[in-house]
Amino acid sequence: MGTDEQSGTRDLAIEIRGLGKSFDDNVVLRGLDLTVERGSTMVILGSSGSGKSVLVSMLVGLLSPDEGEVLVDGVDVAPFETAEQWRSIWLKTGFLFQGAALFDSMTVGENIGFPLRQHTDLGEAEIAERVARVLSWIDLEGTEGKMPSELSGGMQKRVGLARTIVLEPQIVIYDEPTTGLDPLTSDTISELVLRLQKEQQVTSVVVTHDVRCAFLVANRVAMLDAGCVLVEGSLDQIKESPVPKLRAFLYG
Ligand SMILES: Nc1ncnc2c1ncn2[C@@H]1O[C@H](COP(=O)(O)OP(=O)(O)OP(=O)(O)O)[C@@H](O)[C@H]1O
Ligand SMILES: [Mg+2]
Repeated sequence: MGTDEQSGTRDLAIEIRGLGKSFDDNVVLRGLDLTVERGSTMVILGSSGSGKSVLVSMLVGLLSPDEGEVLVDGVDVAPFETAEQWRSIWLKTGFLFQGAALFDSMTVGENIGFPLRQHTDLGEAEIAERVARVLSWIDLEGTEGKMPSELSGGMQKRVGLARTIVLEPQIVIYDEPTTGLDPLTSDTISELVLRLQKEQQVTSVVVTHDVRCAFLVANRVAMLDAGCVLVEGSLDQIKESPVPKLRAFLYG
């Protein structure tokens, strides 16, 4: 996947080198390296406060690094400062925030259609069609007219996910997509991650505490600890890894 066997070069969607980030004297990331091959799914594990959200926030410009390189599709976004610079990255990268909130005063349909209205010239009929399509992907057909307050927490989470993918991004970053969901609803999300990979060759980065979700979706797994990647490997390597902190995380 994403590897050109003959030349030996790897086609990387994301390449992070020597990433450092501190908040005052709280050093969160210290020289972190991580690569994600195009079309693959990277799961990021790590204890609470290990810097997972900080890391993925820097892929979309919510935070800026103190040092290091962050290449998205070969472009170093670390020095970016303006929305104008970020625009092309935002168009091809979907980001589901941890605890993603919907706009309370908008219907489900308006919430999901929002990125389309903001970033495309599509007409209302086309927008309605795209909104209906992503709603069917998350098993919430026909809920366009509902208000977020009328939905359960799990349904809101899925609507947030629909809003993240409605622009059909090439890269999708999920920060705790299944937290607070029951196992069946959580599996719906995992299946969607797999489906986007299979049908649209999407590259995914999934931050999660949910080992079941991790095992379902991952091609590779990285565990953060002390500001760096403690272990990184294929799903099979990770399952068998002897590293105690990783084993404790996976198997309790
Ligand atoms: N905007 C910010 N300002 C100051 N400190 C921050 C900020 N964002 C994160 N931090 C600090 O960075 C550290 C890492 O936070 P982060 O949110 O990345 O952890 P996490 O691994 O995502 O944890 P969790 O699993 O609980 O979501 C924490 O010590 C946090 O307090
Ligand atoms: Mg977090």
